[in-house]
Amino acid sequence: MTPDDLPDSIRDRFPLLEHAVYTNSCSQGALSDEVRAAYAQYLTDWDEKGAPWELWVEQAEGARSRFARLLNATPDEIAVTTSVSAGVSSLLSGLHQPRGRDKIVISDFEFPTIGQITHAQELLGRKVEHVAATADATIPLERLVEAIDDETGLVAITYVCFRNGSKTDVKEVIRRAHEVGALVLVDAFQAVGAIPIDVRNLNADFVAGGVLKYLLGSAGLAFLYCRADLLPQITPTVTGWFADEDIFEMDISDYSPSPTARKFESGTPSIPNIYAGIAGMDLMHEIGIEATERHVAGLTGQLVDGLDRIGATMVTPRDPNQRGPMIAVATNDERAMVAALHGDGILTSPRDGNVRLSFHCYNSEEDVERVISGLAAHSDLLAR
Ligand SMILES: Cc1ncc(COP(=O)(O)O)c(C=O)c1O
Repeated sequence: MTPDDLPDSIRDRFPLLEHAVYTNSCSQGALSDEVRAAYAQYLTDWDEKGAPWELWVEQAEGARSRFARLLNATPDEIAVTTSVSAGVSSLLSGLHQPRGRDKIVISDFEFPTIGQITHAQELLGRKVEHVAATADATIPLERLVEAIDDETGLVAITYVCFRNGSKTDVKEVIRRAHEVGALVLVDAFQAVGAIPIDVRNLNADFVAGGVLKYLLGSAGLAFLYCRADLLPQITPTVTGWFADEDIFEMDISDYSPSPTARKFESGTPSIPNIYAGIAGMDLMHEIGIEATERHVAGLTGQLVDGLDRIGATMVTPRDPNQRGPMIAVATNDERAMVAALHGDGILTSPRDGNVRLSFHCYNSEEDVERVISGLAAHSDLLAR
């Protein structure tokens, strides 16, 4: 599809859009007919076939190959997980770097789970350094580069911040980190499905994300990408039987993890969510992530102009290269603003004093105008 086809060519697949202006894809993508049908198919397969484990394992492999296609990776570089937390915990449990490289650098924009998992590593003698954001809601590259030194083993950086929509130039961060011998974990949850991600082009080491936002799936399905040449040096201690080299050997006498990224998996896959996630990913593949990115850039530009017109304060960087699909607007009571907009049929979410407005392939210029009028109608709740 081209950006010009969007959103008209696809809106009727999302029943929610008939009665709401949906600008909350940064929290959860809208439910499509395809994803609803996939859940129904799961129940049908269960009902008709009993316990079709071979089919279900095949489905999990289907999710793996779709994640690989999405990221331009190979299936062996993909772990199919239930959450970003699960994949990243497993990764960090096995990532032992040379002595003296005990520092983990993270930014102030990380999602809580990244902060918590990296700080848990302090119990094992690692230290965590935070890179602070500036007032314009960016993490300046110079600050990151200053923090990443020859004691740094890992840099964990979010692609698009969940709080304010700020986008970091992760390709440049990876380049600089590699110059001093550090590896980089990119949390791409707020980007994947909305921004094309090519792990080869980024020269990425590790990338984590999930399907419930811009990939149109539901909770319970995520991925961890690990570059092939890094796999042999990582042996997770957070594990489970689906991480074993031969899952169905049912061997309780040793630990022999898969040589592929499957080593970062755990127990029984979340089969219902895999059905849904496959349907969501296939739909996004059909719609096109590049077309979506361009369509959404038009909508966010329109929103920024509208915010200026009504005198609202945007917290997200103004530079279009430094933002993704979500724009955060300052309020003096974010919950009251979200509730007021909800009353007007506009679905959003609150964070940090701001209302988050996130757009996707199905949003229209009319949606943006509705949001601008909605904010103007509740201007007493806007922070000036
Ligand atoms: C940037 C980011 N990382 C991670 C997560 C969630 O991680 P998990 O899959 O572990 O719940 C979210 C969810 O909102 C997110 O926005």
